[in-house]
Amino acid sequence: ENKKVIFSGMQPSGSLTLGNYLGALKNWVRLQSEYDCYYCVVDMHAITVPKEPKDLRKNTLEVLANYIAAGLDPEQVTLFIQSHVSAHAELGWLLNCFSYYGELGRMTQFKDKSKKQDSNAITAGLFTYPVLMAADILLYQADLVPVGEDQRQHLEITRDIAQRFNNRFSETFKVPDPFISKDGAKIMSLQEPESKMSKSDSNDNSYILLMDGADAIRRKFKRAVTDSEGVIRFSDAQPGVKNLINIHSKITDKTPAEIVAEYEGKGYAQFKDDVAEIVVDELKPIQEKIDYLLKNKDYLEKIYIHGAEKAEAVARKTLRKAYKKVGF
Ligand code: ADP
Ligand code: NA
Repeated sequence: ENKKVIFSGMQPSGSLTLGNYLGALKNWVRLQSEYDCYYCVVDMHAITVPKEPKDLRKNTLEVLANYIAAGLDPEQVTLFIQSHVSAHAELGWLLNCFSYYGELGRMTQFKDKSKKQDSNAITAGLFTYPVLMAADILLYQADLVPVGEDQRQHLEITRDIAQRFNNRFSETFKVPDPFISKDGAKIMSLQEPESKMSKSDSNDNSYILLMDGADAIRRKFKRAVTDSEGVIRFSDAQPGVKNLINIHSKITDKTPAEIVAEYEGKGYAQFKDDVAEIVVDELKPIQEKIDYLLKNKDYLEKIYIHGAEKAEAVARKTLRKAYKKVGF
């Protein structure tokens, strides 16, 4: 078939957040019929920071259930778990030897994540994570990688590594393009609206999980940090309010300007409550499906076993090609 290839993945570092859903997953669903899609649960990335084995196992299955519940069709796309396809680790090592300490040290996500820890607690895996991500993508000769804005820099290093390898040897990897939707605004933390909403945040009021109950969602939005302006405007000077407008807009498909007009003269409390209800309604059917899937683990198992077989066949081919080039 000559459909373009798409690869993307999410970490099972916890259940998925509203940021993962609005920034990435919703787009994945839109793309699934038009492209040949590989969507992965990147469990090998999740152990770059300490992780309890039983939590990792649980979260991995949850993320798979989240993918399907959000609308990914296992008949149409290849859904699999990264550690089940060993070519990821193998190409990851190879590409480590074509990546530089300097360029990895410039990754802002690494700088952000490592700032919060003492250097004896930062793993080499966290440092080389973008290289494994490059391997993930290049194995499938992906044309496009739909990710959130926060991953743009990692996509650039993937391209650099691919080009470097191709130049050193000969055409081996397709150089992928990022596929970041224009309205793919980053969803920010509800507590520190200057940083992105992330499931690895230590403050659980900062994120909405796809599996949060209605009460938790309402409570977290009530506590969302805003400002003292008291006026609902779509402005960088008001990052908390701007983030709430973005969330509203991405779910209702109204433009920020329409939302601002709708709330002229109204207060933050009302706006936060309304955004909470919009999110509750959006997530309700997804949550029901997640519950159902997690009660049917045999079904999930069939999906990821089948997915790994399909992925393995493609990944092996690329790995063999790359191994030959370096002299293995
Ligand atoms: P997390 O930071 O929550 O662990 P991942 O690194 O696993 O998320 O990212 C999974 C996907 O979700 C990526 O495509 C990423 O760009 C997207 N994503 C993650 N957080 C956000 C966010 N706050 N806003 C928009 N997109 C996001
Ligand atoms: Na991340």
